[in-house]
Amino acid sequence: GSMLVSGIQPTGSFHLGNYLGAAKTWHTIARKLDSSSQMILFIADLHSLTVPQNYSVLKRQRFEAYASLLACGLDPAKVTIYHQAALPEHTQLQWALTCFAGMGLLNRMTQWKAKAGVKTEAEIQNELGAVRLGLFAYPVLMAADVLLFNATHVPVGQDQVQHLELTRDVASAFNKQTNTKFFRSPKTLMAPANKILNLRDPSKKMSKSDPDELTKINITEDPTSMRTKIMKATTDSIDGPLTFDPEQRPGISNLITIYSAIANQTIEETVSQVKDFSKRDLKELVAEAVVKELEEPNRIYKELVASPDLLHKYSLEGADKARAVASKNLKEVYKILGMDMET
Ligand code: TYM
Repeated sequence: GSMLVSGIQPTGSFHLGNYLGAAKTWHTIARKLDSSSQMILFIADLHSLTVPQNYSVLKRQRFEAYASLLACGLDPAKVTIYHQAALPEHTQLQWALTCFAGMGLLNRMTQWKAKAGVKTEAEIQNELGAVRLGLFAYPVLMAADVLLFNATHVPVGQDQVQHLELTRDVASAFNKQTNTKFFRSPKTLMAPANKILNLRDPSKKMSKSDPDELTKINITEDPTSMRTKIMKATTDSIDGPLTFDPEQRPGISNLITIYSAIANQTIEETVSQVKDFSKRDLKELVAEAVVKELEEPNRIYKELVASPDLLHKYSLEGADKARAVASKNLKEVYKILGMDMET
């Protein structure tokens, strides 16, 4: 059977990019899961410690993120959903894996550079002195998250592809150095939707950490504000038929991507549907589709955040199910490394 594993950081809002890039596909996969397969999802709260936080806000967001996942239709009876911090096994495996992860590979990861706001080689070299070890080593924790369950597939959005390459590298370095075949090589299961872009600046991705609320649609916000944000989305001043051209027309292309993902149709199908629309008509079409798509998640979310006890119960039950798999795998890894007391 398959073992599907993925995670989401709790910081900031749960936005349309997370929904179309991750949660919607998780939901689709969960519905088709056969009895020999398992799906494990976690709130990647330990990952949120890689940048400074307001820790009492973070505590609240950990549960809001949990509610958001359930609001997207994921059923805690079918999918194991828990908080990463509840399982010390994640960091215990991470330590072992850091001993197999090359500094050069980590240095090539783009995300710490983006989070630290550095671009040029000189800036990067300079930043290496200041960057915290947790942010730099973050991809190894992510590798541990996946390998802890010996995942066969990892369903993620495009921006996580590089991290999963590192995961496979670390897994194969471990297998090679220990002369085992313990870790399987996990496959990236990429969401059908392209990366969802920032509504104000479509040269960037839609991001939880963007302080400007106009750049993103949160699944928890009210429909009026969803509509306003889409109507205000940055497009371009090119006249004539609407075209899908991510290079020249990233804003229009982003709206086409969003609509295609919601309508479950290809980019080509959407383009032929909207090519003679005005930009305003396209925005109206997208706004209505988004509002309708998020209506139910929006409603369920509001109910769930009002029942914190229920969320705690689900999370603890999820952690128990995850621990059953994780602790067994971790023991084997430590045994392979000679860290057991068997004679
Ligand atoms: P995170 O929390 O940034 O995002 C969660 C999921 O949402 C997808 N996503 C997007 N997809 C399309 N367009 C966007 N603008 C967009 N923004 C986010 C991401 O691809 C992701 O699938 N490091 C991970 C969390 C993580 C993880 C793991 C994932 C920790 N450990 C192990 C898989 C396996 C992260 O920060 O995702």
